[in-house]
Amino acid sequence: MCGIVGYIGKKSACPILLSGLKRLEYRGYDSSGICVKTKFGLEYVKRKGRILELEDALSSKNFKNCFVGIAHTRWATHGEPTEVNAHPHFDSTGEIAIVHNGIIENYMTLKKMLIAEGIKFVSETDSEVLAHLISKFYEDCNLESAVVKALELVEGTFGLLVMSKTSEKLVAARRGSPLVVGIGEDEMFVSSDVSAILEYTRRVMYLNDDELVVFDAHSYAVKNLKGAVLGKKIHEIKWSIDQIEKGGYKHFMLKEIYEQPTAIENTLRGRIKDNKVWFDFNIDLFGIRRIIITACGTSWHSALIGKYYFERNCEIPVEVDYASEFRYRNPLVTENDLVIAISQSGETADTLAALREAKSKGAKTLGLVNVVGSTIAREVDYVVYLHAGPEIGVASTKAFTTQVIDLLLISLFFRQRLGKKVDSLVLEELQLLPEKVSLMLEQFEKTGTIKKLAEDFKKYSNALYLGRGMNFPVALEGALKLKEISYIHSEGYPAAEMKHGPIALIDKDMPVVFIAPQDHTYEKILSNMEEIKARGGEIIALIDENDSLVSHLTKNTISVMSSIEEISPILDVIPLQLLAYYIADSKGIDVDKPRNLAKSVTVE
Ligand code: AGP
Repeated sequence: MCGIVGYIGKKSACPILLSGLKRLEYRGYDSSGICVKTKFGLEYVKRKGRILELEDALSSKNFKNCFVGIAHTRWATHGEPTEVNAHPHFDSTGEIAIVHNGIIENYMTLKKMLIAEGIKFVSETDSEVLAHLISKFYEDCNLESAVVKALELVEGTFGLLVMSKTSEKLVAARRGSPLVVGIGEDEMFVSSDVSAILEYTRRVMYLNDDELVVFDAHSYAVKNLKGAVLGKKIHEIKWSIDQIEKGGYKHFMLKEIYEQPTAIENTLRGRIKDNKVWFDFNIDLFGIRRIIITACGTSWHSALIGKYYFERNCEIPVEVDYASEFRYRNPLVTENDLVIAISQSGETADTLAALREAKSKGAKTLGLVNVVGSTIAREVDYVVYLHAGPEIGVASTKAFTTQVIDLLLISLFFRQRLGKKVDSLVLEELQLLPEKVSLMLEQFEKTGTIKKLAEDFKKYSNALYLGRGMNFPVALEGALKLKEISYIHSEGYPAAEMKHGPIALIDKDMPVVFIAPQDHTYEKILSNMEEIKARGGEIIALIDENDSLVSHLTKNTISVMSSIEEISPILDVIPLQLLAYYIADSKGIDVDKPRNLAKSVTVE
């Protein structure tokens, strides 16, 4: 999720673009850049790192009398965070400059076509393709026509802003990545997010998919990609900037919980085609006798689910290890092992050390990471990115669900490479996930069920979470969410483990959260609930929509969209994320920054 800002008007562009980028830095900040029009043509500055790096570099430039410019803060998806890969990107002649947010799915095809026509690329990004394509069609200073012709060839998503040396107009176009147009007095603004321009104007228009706006300082025209002029409502923004950065949600964590349909869509994008799973790494599984998955915290929980996937789909034994334990136990690892390191940040010290230990013993390594170009992503043999977008809340939510999805996809991809058929039902259910998660979140919002349960359960000092099979790791994850943001002591257990000790804890002060989908363990879960009820324990139960038995055991039920066993962990964890959130928020805790915790544990 990158940040885009554009300006044309009577003020100096640079300060406006810089302040806009700083407002967007929460969206991702591994590199940034600015391009302005001067009497010499299009001049630019790009820097790796935070916006401050860019600001320092600009201080030595004389861009005071530049009144039109575009700018970008990058959250890398294709190509590491480097100055060359930072936006803006240019065509070979320096006539066209673009900034882009989104993923060009067919960029390799377009890149090969342009290279065959003699175009020289300088970056590893998908976005650069757009600059060369627009240049290819640019003639008679008609920037709008060149952009439209270029976008006709593009598959994928874009929030795109284009300027040229010779055209007086700028063009912005949108498909899948938001763009907002700000209307000032003899000045115009474009941004990915209204927070970047709110200090200059509260009058904005929102572009819809496959719409573009052609504008200069005094006029604009909104059109669809077929050229039809569209009337657009002008909105008066009432929100504060802080409210906007959180998308109107109270905390980043809640925003990221509700972002999961989009994050899941982006994780799935381009990975299921023609009833097959596609990844662009060419791993040789011949000789792999074991898979070891190593991680910390929430990522370790997704690793436990991954074990089920790989053993079921690839019939390769899987071990799951805390990275902090793996790194120090002198693990018996050989070149016949594939070690998968899972890390949202890609910087967790223990996971990085475990990876290096595995590499030193000859293992093949694969990283499942959210932050492009992070240390773990750069040190593994193969890397799969989550494409979940920046996760800012300390408590991990969308990273967990997208990790689980990617582990399922990778296990199916390996299954294909082992010459086995993939069950099309799993692929169908995966593709239904964004819609199912979206409907379920709407349902929770409408009924308020989870908020009410949170009010009833926030008084407790302890809690148990129980699940079986793939939902045992979900029980662990639900317990971690609760303990790390509400400070209520909570533990996850396999439900069958109750009688081996924990049941001694059960009384009226020990609520138990059950994950009870109607799968092959359902009957066993029902008898576990009976045992808890018989000892006066309070029960919250996650149940399938059509469940009619559990309501005899507890009124505290949360209906979860049903799906196949492989998919249920992704659906079941979401109400547990919300339950923890509402309990913590009702206790007045700063959910995004819980005490003692950091978003990325880069020290031991
Ligand atoms: C989860 O909510 C926590 N923030 C924490 O357990 C986290 O999952 C763990 O520190 C691992 O982080 P990583 O995925 O960035 O490696």
